[in-house]
Amino acid sequence: MKKKLLITALILLSTTIGHSQNEERKLEQIIKEWAAPDEFPDHVVLSATADPSHSIGINWRTLSSNEIGYVEIAKAGPGPDFREKKKRFTAKRTLVNSAIAEKNGFESSFFEVQINDLTPNTLYAYRVGNDHFKSEWHQFKTAHDQAAPLSFLYVGDAQNYVLELWSRVIRNAYKKAPNADFFIHAGDLINNAHNENEWNEWFAAGSFIHSEIPAIAVPGNHEYRSFKGSSSSTDKKLSVQWTAQFGFPSNGPKGLDKTCYYVDYPNTRIIALDSNREIELKAEWLEKILAKKDKKWVIVTYHHPVFSASTGRDNPDLRLHWKPLFEKYQVDLALQGHDHTYARGAIFEDTVVLKKDSKSKTVIGPVYVVSVSGGKMYSIDPAGWDEYGAKQGKVGEKTQLFQHISIDGDRLIYQSFTATGELFDRFELLKYNGKNSHFD
Ligand SMILES: [Fe+2]
Repeated sequence: MKKKLLITALILLSTTIGHSQNEERKLEQIIKEWAAPDEFPDHVVLSATADPSHSIGINWRTLSSNEIGYVEIAKAGPGPDFREKKKRFTAKRTLVNSAIAEKNGFESSFFEVQINDLTPNTLYAYRVGNDHFKSEWHQFKTAHDQAAPLSFLYVGDAQNYVLELWSRVIRNAYKKAPNADFFIHAGDLINNAHNENEWNEWFAAGSFIHSEIPAIAVPGNHEYRSFKGSSSSTDKKLSVQWTAQFGFPSNGPKGLDKTCYYVDYPNTRIIALDSNREIELKAEWLEKILAKKDKKWVIVTYHHPVFSASTGRDNPDLRLHWKPLFEKYQVDLALQGHDHTYARGAIFEDTVVLKKDSKSKTVIGPVYVVSVSGGKMYSIDPAGWDEYGAKQGKVGEKTQLFQHISIDGDRLIYQSFTATGELFDRFELLKYNGKNSHFD
């Protein structure tokens, strides 16, 4: 552990101080060693499954020489004797060699278990590993299977300075909502899709939070990169770690496992979309899922914003293919990233500009949010909303943020907080007859 802390310090040092080429190479080697897989399981992460009331996805990483891995799980109890009732589930192992994509890559064993038949609304303890090396016991709670209050966290791009600066955001988010049901990451979790050092930063920054609050994540444009040596920008491939290190559902369009899927809570459906490719194909699938109309609340998350918040950025394909469906089926929230700034707004039945003291207004389609959690910042651009009938409400820039959203019956409360924990933005939605009234 001491070694890891020392190396963490060196990484931080390397980002701030200039070095000679030799020193740079030495530092690079130290960082590579820091990010290397170990006998001990690391990168332990919970993923939301399609049915989080009864199942959970658990993934982790070790040295490539480890062929066997398993999860032990039991209902958690106040004393250590809960372990007497543990059950064991053997993991699926995937060998991933990130060296084929990145010069500083490794071969690693990634393990995955989906545990089913769990009891709803129940605290479980689990650990991962093999006969020789195991993680600590982590705890998580399954979702309710009946209507019940739900709350979750959401962040935009972590992407840059992940260990240096994103760590304070995810840790503050956890302090604000330690019992959140899940944690949405709206793409660009790291900067270079296949880079194990950066993934190691993401896991180090989130630490046990990743192992105890199930993630729902979508790939951003930075989760797609060409392999080393390829000069073609059209040859971008999904992060080689993505499908091996996360246990998201495979209930999306064929061939888009774990990048396009949905997760069902009793009153709420979360639809996770990959906005990088095949927008039109996903629209067909999206309409099928939205047409079910069997959930009171529907929240979509994807990376590229329908209404951009920074200069020179625009995603007309999303407005053409997805936005009409969001409106036709009254999606409630669209949680996005990519623009490294903050903007929140919507299309309203009237055209009054949102003001802080405004009364309620009826929303057409979702409230759209662009947010950023990492250290890279762009400037806000007010263009790109009014011309499509949308109104920007709260905007902000140069601020690291996380969001906490809670749903109880017909009421949704959205709050955005800064990295230092102050309330930055807030609104409420009240559902009546299938329409949402919006209160600032
Ligand atoms: Fe992005």
